Amino acid sequence: MAKRATIRDIQAKAGDGQKLSMVTAYDAFSARLVEQAGIDIALVGDSVGTTLQGRPDTLGVNMQHMLYHTEIVARTTERVLVIGDMPFGSYQVNEDEAVHNAVEFLKAGAQAVKLEGGASVLPLIERMSDAGIPVMGHLGYTPQSTNITSGPRVNKSRDELMEDAESLADAGVFAIVLEMVPSKIAQEITKSISVPTIGIGAGPHTNGQVLVFHDMLGFSPDFNPKFLKRYFDFHEQALAALKKYKEEVEGGGYPGEEHSY
Ligand code: KIV
Repeated sequence: MAKRATIRDIQAKAGDGQKLSMVTAYDAFSARLVEQAGIDIALVGDSVGTTLQGRPDTLGVNMQHMLYHTEIVARTTERVLVIGDMPFGSYQVNEDEAVHNAVEFLKAGAQAVKLEGGASVLPLIERMSDAGIPVMGHLGYTPQSTNITSGPRVNKSRDELMEDAESLADAGVFAIVLEMVPSKIAQEITKSISVPTIGIGAGPHTNGQVLVFHDMLGFSPDFNPKFLKRYFDFHEQALAALKKYKEEVEGGGYPGEEHSY
């Protein structure tokens, strides 16, 4: 049985100057592909709300959904580090509830949790770290605050982002996602803090990159932010295959003798 990557392995890789790769996974299909590709971290992201649940944003995702997906990703992988993304409402109400919810992620098989925010989450991060729960921070555009930012934009200055990143690292996060942070600021943050940064739309200077499985593989043809690179066109290929199947069923081309008993 393969040994599962640890937080220490991830930090050592970044410390050696090697780039980290992180991709979302929500089910056995995506988890196995992410693992087989040798990706370092599988993020069970609350982006499951938009990718699989057909929601306009991540706000409707709850703990029950996240634990369901986390358990599947952890059970169907052996090597990749699994991080559970704390959904909106699971850590904003009070600290006791937040710690309880983070514990549930670890019981479901995750090795760490991720949560969004800066100064307001510092005491919580300290408490979680004391309780043995590794936390990944998330700064820049934080999709759970989309109603405050009025869409995908960063509403903090360079100095505020720097201060948030430094305080998160001091509070004990093991890594920080930087979403849509301008490349130069992401570079400065990466140089000034002691934990790895993982960028999404934050340029090439972070210690690693993260993309959403469905976006990078072309399941979501209408989602086209500047930072996204599509490595495969699932939607186009799947649509052509389904149309061909329909045509063959209707025209009698499928099934043939070779598909029959
Ligand atoms: O939910 C998610 O997929 C994320 C990544 C975009 C970092 O938070």
